Amino acid sequence: MSKIDLKVNRHPQTVDVEPSTPLLYVLRNDLHLQGPKFGCGMGQCGACTVLINGEAVRSCILPASAARGEITTLEGLAQNGKLHPLQQAWIDEQVPQCGFCQNGQILTAKAMLDKTPNPTDAQIREGMNNTLCRCMSYYRIQTAIKRAAKKMSGGAA
Ligand code: FES
Ligand code: FES
Repeated sequence: MSKIDLKVNRHPQTVDVEPSTPLLYVLRNDLHLQGPKFGCGMGQCGACTVLINGEAVRSCILPASAARGEITTLEGLAQNGKLHPLQQAWIDEQVPQCGFCQNGQILTAKAMLDKTPNPTDAQIREGMNNTLCRCMSYYRIQTAIKRAAKKMSGGAA
Protein backbone atom coordinates (compact mmCIF):
# COMPACT_ATOMS: atom_id res chain seq x y z
CA MET A 1 0.00 0.00 0.00
CA SER A 2 1.15 3.56 -0.66
CA LYS A 3 -0.14 6.95 0.26
CA ILE A 4 -1.32 8.76 -2.87
CA ASP A 5 -2.23 12.43 -2.97
CA LEU A 6 -5.10 13.40 -5.22
CA LYS A 7 -7.03 16.58 -5.82
CA VAL A 8 -10.68 15.73 -6.35
CA ASN A 9 -13.46 18.23 -6.89
CA ARG A 10 -11.25 21.06 -5.64
CA HIS A 11 -10.29 19.24 -2.42
CA PRO A 12 -6.94 17.59 -1.60
CA GLN A 13 -7.31 13.93 -0.64
CA THR A 14 -4.82 11.30 0.51
CA VAL A 15 -5.62 7.61 0.05
CA ASP A 16 -3.70 4.53 1.12
CA VAL A 17 -4.01 1.99 -1.69
CA GLU A 18 -2.00 -0.23 -4.00
CA PRO A 19 -0.55 2.16 -6.61
CA SER A 20 -2.02 0.08 -9.44
CA THR A 21 -5.57 0.38 -8.08
CA PRO A 22 -7.75 1.88 -10.81
CA LEU A 23 -8.71 5.46 -10.08
CA LEU A 24 -12.37 4.44 -10.46
CA TYR A 25 -12.13 2.11 -7.46
CA VAL A 26 -10.46 4.79 -5.35
CA LEU A 27 -13.11 7.36 -6.23
CA ARG A 28 -16.01 5.02 -5.54
CA ASN A 29 -14.71 2.88 -2.68
CA ASP A 30 -12.34 5.17 -0.81
CA LEU A 31 -13.78 8.60 -1.53
CA HIS A 32 -17.42 7.47 -1.81
CA LEU A 33 -18.10 9.33 -5.05
CA GLN A 34 -20.80 7.45 -6.90
CA GLY A 35 -20.88 9.55 -10.10
CA PRO A 36 -18.34 7.49 -12.04
CA LYS A 37 -19.73 4.02 -12.85
CA PHE A 38 -18.15 0.66 -13.54
CA GLY A 39 -19.37 -0.39 -16.97
CA CYS A 40 -16.93 -2.47 -19.01
CA GLY A 41 -13.80 -1.99 -16.89
CA MET A 42 -11.80 -2.02 -20.12
CA GLY A 43 -11.79 1.60 -21.28
CA GLN A 44 -14.42 0.98 -23.92
CA CYS A 45 -17.79 2.31 -22.75
CA GLY A 46 -17.10 5.62 -20.98
CA ALA A 47 -19.30 5.02 -17.91
CA CYS A 48 -16.33 5.65 -15.59
CA THR A 49 -15.29 8.97 -17.17
CA VAL A 50 -13.84 11.74 -15.03
CA LEU A 51 -12.13 14.97 -16.02
CA ILE A 52 -8.43 15.37 -15.31
CA ASN A 53 -7.25 18.90 -16.01
CA GLY A 54 -10.35 19.25 -18.18
CA GLU A 55 -9.70 16.17 -20.34
CA ALA A 56 -12.16 13.28 -20.32
CA VAL A 57 -10.34 10.25 -18.93
CA ARG A 58 -11.54 6.67 -18.38
CA SER A 59 -10.87 6.06 -14.73
CA CYS A 60 -11.30 2.27 -14.90
CA ILE A 61 -7.98 1.85 -16.69
CA LEU A 62 -5.97 4.63 -15.05
CA PRO A 63 -3.91 3.60 -12.01
CA ALA A 64 -4.59 5.95 -9.12
CA SER A 65 -0.85 6.61 -8.85
CA ALA A 66 -0.88 8.03 -12.41
CA ALA A 67 -3.75 10.46 -11.80
CA ARG A 68 -1.96 13.80 -11.79
CA GLY A 69 -3.79 17.10 -11.72
CA GLU A 70 -7.30 18.30 -10.97
CA ILE A 71 -9.79 15.46 -10.98
CA THR A 72 -13.42 16.42 -11.44
CA THR A 73 -16.23 13.92 -11.07
CA LEU A 74 -19.88 14.48 -11.84
CA GLU A 75 -20.33 15.54 -8.21
CA GLY A 76 -17.88 18.41 -8.80
CA LEU A 77 -19.63 19.96 -11.79
CA ALA A 78 -22.19 21.90 -9.78
CA GLN A 79 -20.72 24.91 -8.00
CA ASN A 80 -22.14 26.86 -5.06
CA GLY A 81 -25.32 24.81 -5.22
CA LYS A 82 -25.92 25.71 -8.88
CA LEU A 83 -26.10 22.97 -11.48
CA HIS A 84 -23.76 23.19 -14.46
CA PRO A 85 -25.69 24.14 -17.65
CA LEU A 86 -25.13 20.62 -18.96
CA GLN A 87 -26.73 19.11 -15.87
CA GLN A 88 -29.67 21.50 -16.18
CA ALA A 89 -30.03 20.73 -19.89
CA TRP A 90 -30.02 17.01 -19.09
CA ILE A 91 -32.95 17.58 -16.75
CA ASP A 92 -34.77 19.90 -19.13
CA GLU A 93 -34.46 17.43 -22.01
CA GLN A 94 -35.15 14.42 -19.74
CA VAL A 95 -32.17 12.64 -21.24
CA PRO A 96 -31.57 9.55 -19.06
CA GLN A 97 -33.37 6.26 -19.36
CA CYS A 98 -31.67 3.77 -17.01
CA GLY A 99 -29.09 6.49 -16.32
CA PHE A 100 -26.06 4.23 -16.04
CA CYS A 101 -24.06 5.83 -18.85
CA GLN A 102 -25.01 9.41 -18.10
CA ASN A 103 -22.01 10.27 -15.92
CA GLY A 104 -19.79 9.58 -18.91
CA GLN A 105 -22.07 11.37 -21.32
CA ILE A 106 -22.16 14.59 -19.30
CA LEU A 107 -18.44 14.71 -18.53
CA THR A 108 -17.46 13.84 -22.10
CA ALA A 109 -19.79 16.60 -23.28
CA LYS A 110 -18.19 19.02 -20.80
CA ALA A 111 -14.70 18.31 -22.15
CA MET A 112 -15.98 18.68 -25.71
CA LEU A 113 -17.79 21.99 -25.10
CA ASP A 114 -14.74 23.44 -23.37
CA LYS A 115 -12.84 22.91 -26.62
CA THR A 116 -15.69 23.44 -29.08
CA PRO A 117 -18.22 25.82 -27.52
CA ASN A 118 -20.71 25.76 -30.40
CA PRO A 119 -20.46 22.33 -31.95
CA THR A 120 -22.33 21.26 -35.06
CA ASP A 121 -24.38 18.05 -34.98
CA ALA A 122 -21.52 16.29 -36.73
CA GLN A 123 -19.00 17.57 -34.16
CA ILE A 124 -21.24 16.38 -31.32
CA ARG A 125 -21.55 12.93 -32.89
CA GLU A 126 -17.80 12.80 -33.40
CA GLY A 127 -17.00 14.06 -29.88
CA MET A 128 -19.45 11.68 -28.20
CA ASN A 129 -18.73 8.78 -30.52
CA ASN A 130 -17.11 6.39 -28.05
CA THR A 131 -19.35 7.05 -25.07
CA LEU A 132 -21.88 4.26 -25.25
CA CYS A 133 -25.54 4.22 -24.21
CA ARG A 134 -27.27 0.88 -24.34
CA CYS A 135 -30.64 2.64 -23.90
CA MET A 136 -29.99 4.60 -27.11
CA SER A 137 -30.59 8.04 -25.61
CA TYR A 138 -28.25 9.56 -28.20
CA TYR A 139 -30.75 11.92 -29.79
CA ARG A 140 -31.69 13.51 -26.47
CA ILE A 141 -28.02 13.70 -25.49
CA GLN A 142 -27.35 15.68 -28.67
CA THR A 143 -30.32 17.97 -28.03
CA ALA A 144 -29.21 18.60 -24.45
CA ILE A 145 -25.65 19.40 -25.52
CA LYS A 146 -26.95 21.98 -27.99
CA ARG A 147 -29.20 23.48 -25.32
CA ALA A 148 -26.29 23.74 -22.86
CA ALA A 149 -23.97 25.17 -25.50
CA LYS A 150 -26.49 27.90 -26.23
CA LYS A 151 -26.85 28.71 -22.55
CA MET A 152 -23.09 28.71 -21.98
CA SER A 153 -22.53 31.09 -24.88
CA GLY A 154 -25.00 33.54 -23.39
CA GLY A 155 -28.12 32.72 -25.41
CA ALA A 156 -31.46 31.62 -23.99
CA ALA A 157 -31.62 27.83 -23.79
S1 FES B 1 -16.07 1.29 -17.27
FE1 FES B 1 -14.42 2.49 -17.93
S2 FES B 1 -14.67 2.66 -20.05
FE2 FES B 1 -16.21 1.24 -19.44
S1 FES C 1 -29.42 5.73 -20.27
FE1 FES C 1 -29.22 3.58 -20.01
S2 FES C 1 -27.24 3.14 -20.76
FE2 FES C 1 -27.55 5.20 -21.29
